[in-house]
Amino acid sequence: MTKKLLDSFGRSINYLRLSVTDKCNLNCFYCRSDPGRCTVENTDEEELTVDDYRQIGEVAVALGISRIRLTGGEPLLRADIVEIVAAVAGIKGMDDVSLTTNGMLLEKMSEELAAAGLKRVNISLDSLDEINFKQITQGGRLKSTLTGIKCAFNAGLGPVKLNVVLLKGINDHEIEKFIRLTIDRDLHVRFIEYMPTAGQQGNWSDYFLDLNRVLEIARSVAPLQEVQGEHGGGPARYYSLQGAVGKIGLISPLSRHFCASCNRLRVTADGRLKPCLFSDAEVDLRSALGDVEQLKIKFREAVALRTDPRFAASNSHERSVQLQEKRSMFQIGG
Ligand code: GTP
Ligand code: 5AD
Repeated sequence: MTKKLLDSFGRSINYLRLSVTDKCNLNCFYCRSDPGRCTVENTDEEELTVDDYRQIGEVAVALGISRIRLTGGEPLLRADIVEIVAAVAGIKGMDDVSLTTNGMLLEKMSEELAAAGLKRVNISLDSLDEINFKQITQGGRLKSTLTGIKCAFNAGLGPVKLNVVLLKGINDHEIEKFIRLTIDRDLHVRFIEYMPTAGQQGNWSDYFLDLNRVLEIARSVAPLQEVQGEHGGGPARYYSLQGAVGKIGLISPLSRHFCASCNRLRVTADGRLKPCLFSDAEVDLRSALGDVEQLKIKFREAVALRTDPRFAASNSHERSVQLQEKRSMFQIGG
């Protein structure tokens, strides 16, 4: 019989996000508090090992998890990322191993990741314009990510999903261009509402734009239909333009939050289990490594700390106040 991990509010938890590093090779201005810190020079000593991920994955699957997503920072910066993929993909009962990346290293790594058992990738891409991309990422090259997307396709790491964090005054003039990518490409282009987190540069509200704007623009391009289905187990709602091959996804944690259907836990790169993205609560897994029963206890402890979804404000601005927390996104893994 399949096990189910249920929290006190009846939500079934089947999805674990494992952050493998908080380092990144891009330096997106909206993600980092201090440009100098986005680096490969951060210390490694806190990162979990391949065997730690295997243990955590095995316990998670024994409790009811069937999907694992590897995140970062930039997960492909881990020298042993292929081993980590192989370790979690090899766990009996694991249905879906995926990874969220900025795509820069996919040209080099797509084939070996796929061979190690990675099923699919989601790729962050906040601009289709070379200069804008460079400004947002503070130095990145659009071409590397576009090549990475092609290589992911060719390696069969699909459905390939693009993540666009919508930023007022920065990339909202590109919404239509992004939407049009779905017309003749089998891509899921997903827009994400900009979330307030610890240590952001500037003011969150200067950049926040709710995703209704995307729907308005999409409807001006062609008739739009909502697409039902489960699409990988994440929080996006999907639509398609009439006649289009690809899909448009919306992830709206502020204007239309999805806490009531939240199915996930997160592990930070330094080994803390987070019951809820926007809560300070964390459970230390490190001290339990090497002991399956202790790890199970820690998972149950985290599940017991999950926030009551009825407390989540549905007004974007009130919710932004609730969402302020102590870790930045690159430390949590999105
Ligand atoms: P799929 O399995 O493909 O559906 O993946 P996903 O959309 O869950 O993962 P991805 O890493 O691509 O996430 C895209 C964006 O959605 C990131 O900015 C995440 O921070 C955000 N996101 C993912 N899950 C949650 C969640 O549970 N709560 C909130 N508020 N945001 C989330
Ligand atoms: N709000 C929304 N998305 C964010 N990301 C990073 N910081 C934020 C934020 N504050 C995105 C990245 C990537 C995904 C994993 O998280 O751009 O697409």
